[in-house]
Amino acid sequence: MTRGRFITFEGGEGSGKSTQAGRLAERLRAQGLEVLLTREPGGSAGAEAIRQLVVNGEGERWSPLTEVLLMFAARNDHLERTIRPALAAGHWVICDRFADSSRAYQGGGGGVPQSFIEQLDRTVVDDDQPDLTLIFDLPVEEGLERAFGRGLFETRFESKGLAFHERLRHTFRDIAARHPERCRLIDARGTEDDVAGRVWSTIEAALPLPEVQA
Ligand SMILES: Nc1ncnc2c1ncn2[C@@H]1O[C@H](COP(=O)(O)OP(=O)(O)O)[C@@H](O)[C@H]1O
Ligand SMILES: [Mg+2]
Repeated sequence: MTRGRFITFEGGEGSGKSTQAGRLAERLRAQGLEVLLTREPGGSAGAEAIRQLVVNGEGERWSPLTEVLLMFAARNDHLERTIRPALAAGHWVICDRFADSSRAYQGGGGGVPQSFIEQLDRTVVDDDQPDLTLIFDLPVEEGLERAFGRGLFETRFESKGLAFHERLRHTFRDIAARHPERCRLIDARGTEDDVAGRVWSTIEAALPLPEVQA
């Protein structure tokens, strides 16, 4: 059994990750692939329980250090129970947010040392690094406008200030620049179809699709 591919979607609020992750999953399924579409925090029963702790409540409910520990606890369960079994079964896994969101939110945004996040990542994610990470890049106001438009501005992360979201964007762009072998920056402006076209050409260039079974 050939191991599946692991693709993560990253970027700020309202940049179109969830929309495009769904579209990519459908397009890959249409090619005959088995695709697992999952998200973080969450993606397994235990991780969804932790999600309720981290996405709800006051902005300052958790310190950034506590938050990053909760995120990696959730990620560990998600990897053990959901992601690794799917990859081993040959399925492609598309994950809406993953470890780069910890680097951006709790690291760049929250001030947790990146060296500590890398230590957690080496233990928890270990050799199961994404094959490809698409980082959706959009001016902060445009993303918050989109997120606000959908009436979801009330989550803890969306309610943090503009300066926080600017730090996020900066950190995501920095991650893309420092890991060109794994990451591709996706211009998230324009229509959903425009962005889907960019996503698809990036996938085709970076990950050769296996022969489609008739
Ligand atoms: N290219 C786009 N142009 C305008 N609105 C978009 C676009 N892509 C997604 N949206 C809308 O913006 C909102 C946020 O999109 P979403 O995919 O949920 O972003 P994210 O998961 O990155 O927060 C949704 O209401 C979605 O329908
Ligand atoms: Mg989303």
